[in-house]
Amino acid sequence: MKVLVIGGGGREHAIVWKLSQSPKVTQIYCAPGNPGIAELAECVSIAVSDIKKLADFAQKEQIDLTFVGPEEPLSLGIVNYFKEQGLAVYGPSKEASLIEGSKAFAKELMMKYQIPTAKYSSFTNYEDALSFVRGEGAPIVIKADGLAAGKGVVVAKTLEEAEEALQSMMQEVSFGSAGARVVIEEFLEGEELTLLAFVNRTTVKAMVPAQDHKQVNDGDKGPNTGGMGTYAPLPHIDPSMIERIINEIVKPTAKAMVEEGCPYEGILYTGLMLTKSGPKVIEYNARFGDPETQVVLPLLETDLLEILIASLSGELENVEVKWKDKSAVCVIMSSAGYPGPYEKGQVIKGLEHITYPTIAFHAGTTAKDGEILTNGGRVLGITAIGDHLKEARDLAYQSVEKVSFIGVHYRTDIGSKAFR
Ligand code: AMP
Ligand code: GLY
Repeated sequence: MKVLVIGGGGREHAIVWKLSQSPKVTQIYCAPGNPGIAELAECVSIAVSDIKKLADFAQKEQIDLTFVGPEEPLSLGIVNYFKEQGLAVYGPSKEASLIEGSKAFAKELMMKYQIPTAKYSSFTNYEDALSFVRGEGAPIVIKADGLAAGKGVVVAKTLEEAEEALQSMMQEVSFGSAGARVVIEEFLEGEELTLLAFVNRTTVKAMVPAQDHKQVNDGDKGPNTGGMGTYAPLPHIDPSMIERIINEIVKPTAKAMVEEGCPYEGILYTGLMLTKSGPKVIEYNARFGDPETQVVLPLLETDLLEILIASLSGELENVEVKWKDKSAVCVIMSSAGYPGPYEKGQVIKGLEHITYPTIAFHAGTTAKDGEILTNGGRVLGITAIGDHLKEARDLAYQSVEKVSFIGVHYRTDIGSKAFR
């Protein structure tokens, strides 16, 4: 089969890496891809939002299956458009993608179907939002309603921070139209985890649980980022808790989407907080997580393509999704300054020393004159696989030390919550 993967970050590198191991795959294309992906696939220079051009490419190259990585094309309706053109595509429809594309939609869905989540109110008027926040006090969480690349959320520890966030989202429109509406949430306390699942209508096949590290610095300090590192599975979380999340949250969510007339087909990301009063949803994403995918897919035993094909023919129920009895850790190497302004174009050295069971997933890189240069905030995700978490973690950090570029930053405590 000829497969097209849409996207060009670390997540898509992991997806391409996994698909490249399928005996059924004859050729992989990736749009736009990146220099790491280019070692496994033919990169095509088409933007992820150029849906028509992507569909034309898929027609011309007779692509058998397209996999959509990022949220932007999903929200723009790439799946609807491909299907209208008779093209096989894996991912949720535009309507179903609203579960990520609008926090207000997700919150209303959870309220209606009694799926546990933080209490919230949503506002389009700045003065109303301000007086609500003043009434509630801190800590409190302020979220831009639309897509803001994982950065439209401020967990305000003080009233001052909360007011600043409102000011910046609603008055200075720092997230563009995404901040025209804000969702203000109760602060949830506890440990966070991500549960990804293959979902086809009411069929749910959960993946291994993972944990991201959102803040830029060790000890969960500093501003939120797209994610600074992950590990999976989570040895300190009881399997019965994961069962509970599947039964009380993920399956009811899938069912709710069917009842709402927007059945979900694709990867459903559920971000959760394990609070004293049980697991609660922080957010849904309509796609694989980044960098969760970089630890989850290396642990998947089953052929990913087989799961996708089965799902598309309504047979997901009948596939046995198997996991390796191993652990994976991914450490993100980022550019100095990220998530604020950062420099690009630094030469990356030492990538040739990374060999399996360590993988260097490229997130923000570019190739020039035979060298690999930094080209984004998150530059690389170094994933290592081991028999248990400690082994994977030691190997990941040993490998991180073999790679260097000017201004490199990474957290040194990925996975440490499991050892507390
Ligand atoms: P989100 O983009 O909704 O995942 O939010 C980004 C991060 O902000 C989450 O991963 C959490 O660490 C934090 N966060 C979001 N909502 C809450 C909440 N209600 N209480 C505490 N932390 C939150
Ligand atoms: N790792 C968080 C996300 O993919 O949204």
